[in-house]
Amino acid sequence: MKSESGKTWLHSILYLSCIIFFLQLIHALISGHLFLSHANVKLKKQPDLPLRFRADGTFKILQVADIHYGNGILTRCRDVLASEFDHCSDLNSTRFLKRIIDAEKPDFIAFTGDNIFGTSSPDAAESLFEAFGPAMESRLPWAAVLGNHDQESTMTREELMSFISLMDYSVSQTNPLAEDIDGFGNYNLRIWGAPGSHLANHSVLNLYFLDSGDRAIVNGVRTYGWIKESQLRWLRGVSKVLQGPNLDNNQPEDFSSPPALAFFHIPIPEIRQVKEIVGQYQEYAACSLVNSGVLQTLVSMGDVKAVFTGHDHTNDFCGNLNGIWLCYGGGFGYHAYGRAGWPRRARVILAELASLVGLVVIEMTQMEGVKWLLKVCNLAVLFDSFDTA
Ligand SMILES: *[C@@H]1O[C@H](CO)[C@@H](O)[C@H](O)[C@H]1NC(C)=O
Ligand SMILES: *[C@@H]1O[C@H](CO)[C@@H](O)[C@H](O)[C@H]1NC(C)=O
Repeated sequence: MKSESGKTWLHSILYLSCIIFFLQLIHALISGHLFLSHANVKLKKQPDLPLRFRADGTFKILQVADIHYGNGILTRCRDVLASEFDHCSDLNSTRFLKRIIDAEKPDFIAFTGDNIFGTSSPDAAESLFEAFGPAMESRLPWAAVLGNHDQESTMTREELMSFISLMDYSVSQTNPLAEDIDGFGNYNLRIWGAPGSHLANHSVLNLYFLDSGDRAIVNGVRTYGWIKESQLRWLRGVSKVLQGPNLDNNQPEDFSSPPALAFFHIPIPEIRQVKEIVGQYQEYAACSLVNSGVLQTLVSMGDVKAVFTGHDHTNDFCGNLNGIWLCYGGGFGYHAYGRAGWPRRARVILAELASLVGLVVIEMTQMEGVKWLLKVCNLAVLFDSFDTA
């Protein structure tokens, strides 16, 4: 009897010690985490907001398509000349981005997907920091959407977009709040008139960003993603509000609804129907088999004047369909496929605001990586005016 109760007593003490030990362990882990995250707390650096035109009435956007960033110096370049191969890595993409920012001094940078090449990236966060590094260093506002390769590393598409939206100087967003919508990275940014100008309190240009997805299987056939009806519904809703009456108080008489530009990764199937092009067509457009009616939606909205996509790296042309310009960015990154001897490139979009009539003109300039500034595309009036009635 005595020894029985002694044993129970011993067991109780052992149990108690175990519980205390585990409690202490949990406490240590939690406080350790708290302490660590406390030590790491760093406020996101914000650009000057809202985004505004310059006093000279221009707003310059640099579109960077398909960086395909991998693992930095360890990641080799693709499709460069044999003589260039030995000294070429992701760092060349980084240098190119720094150079182009210095040379062009854009007001805003739009990354249109395949920012990182998942299968060459052991750590998505690391690759994102490297890929967007020059943009963050420049302190310019920048935004990104996803392509079909970004999620092939250690983050899901949702994680990628949340992470990207928290990076320094990023004005990217994951999705509209309180809206049930497909994909991640659907948002719009309003660009306001220059400070001190009569349009200072009005948004005069709107930028739409959309997630065109990655891959899908449709009726047993592998194909690329597409923009879904839920996204188009959101787009129509925003466009209606932005073009509605009294969006901003005291709208100047000479000013009506702002025009818009759209950015996403995978081109829409109609790009294959474009007849006259400015720029180069070198590969068949790798669109989705699904046509979800993006072009009809954009045409019916009326505000979108041009669409900028990436995905097909050796195309850099623009063509007009139903009054909307469909433009490729041309491949930017050295780890992305391309053509040896055909320099990596980016697109510069210059929006001009004629201050008296609120007229917006977009001029396209094509850039080259190695030798600078080759104007192959000068659509002097990409869209000539928007309704001033
Ligand atoms: C890559 O960068 C290195 C170092 O700046 C340079 O020597 C080399 O020419 C670059 N390669 C290409 C293809 O631009
Ligand atoms: C814009 O709004 C600010 C603050 O309300 C005001 O002081 C300024 O006069 C307005 N500018 C124009 C051009 O309406």
